[in-house]
Amino acid sequence: MSINWYPGHMKKATDEIRQKLSLVDLCCEIRDARIPSSSANEALRLLTAKKKHIILLNKKDMADAKETEKWIQALQQKGQTALAINAVHERPAKALYDLAATLLAEEQSKRKEQSRINREIRLLVYGIPNAGKSTFINAMSGKRSAAVGDRPGFTKQQQWIKTDADLLLLDTPGILPKKLTERQSLFLACTGAIRDDILPLQDIGYWLLELLLTLAPKAVTDRYSLAENEGERETLGVMESIARYTGSLLRGGEIDYTRTAAILLDDFRKLRFGRITLESAPIAQKDEG
Ligand code: G4P
Repeated sequence: MSINWYPGHMKKATDEIRQKLSLVDLCCEIRDARIPSSSANEALRLLTAKKKHIILLNKKDMADAKETEKWIQALQQKGQTALAINAVHERPAKALYDLAATLLAEEQSKRKEQSRINREIRLLVYGIPNAGKSTFINAMSGKRSAAVGDRPGFTKQQQWIKTDADLLLLDTPGILPKKLTERQSLFLACTGAIRDDILPLQDIGYWLLELLLTLAPKAVTDRYSLAENEGERETLGVMESIARYTGSLLRGGEIDYTRTAAILLDDFRKLRFGRITLESAPIAQKDEG
């Protein structure tokens, strides 16, 4: 099953990005470090393919640190540049500037030769909803987002955001891919990137529990005071034990799967199982030769 939905405002936002591309030096995609693959938007990546890219794995404080490191290495192996950040507590302006300057070294030196002007680096920031784009933009601007209207190549409508490094950011609305596979939708639902009512809550909860029982079974048994070997049982049985422990029962004592799913999701999103990366990094390829 694939979910095919594309609200009109997302098409408009995609067109907006296409128009803004000529104004920027490079693109910066914000992803969720817990789901680095499913929080990507491949279509936007293709749309912006002519520009160099930096991938920001945001919410690193919610993800498993070792997995994030593996993801960065895996992306680097694919020739991509990635940086892990926590937009709530960090202002990675200098680190981002340094990465951008390295990627743009050739262009910058050519520009300097031609115009002798060493202007700021202009970045277009995009990402799916809930990846933390607004938090990132606010952090980078020190909450002083400024429209810079009257410079050549800038129109009054563009909202440029100044940072304390020599970076100007161009914000764009959060955009989801046009087509989502069922797997991608489930990952996005677990992290809250798509609304809980797009898929049946029970399915999201079941999927999340299945992942948790593989990735962090002890965190689950500890959280709901289950017997240690309970984590090895089949998922439905564990879900029923959690329902009983949390009192998620309907009249007559039947299991309330929807409420159990809601509890599981809330516990995951509030880090009650600890920091977990739901999507494991691809196994690194060994260098040949
Ligand atoms: P968006 O513009 O991409 O849609 O995302 P936004 O910045 O609004 O962030 C979505 C939620 O994620 C916010 O929580 C925000 O505080 C949180 N967030 C963003 N960056 C980080 C990060 O690095 N670490 C952590 N722990 N949280 C981060 P919220 O307002 O509570 O929304 P919600 O989570 O209830 O949807």
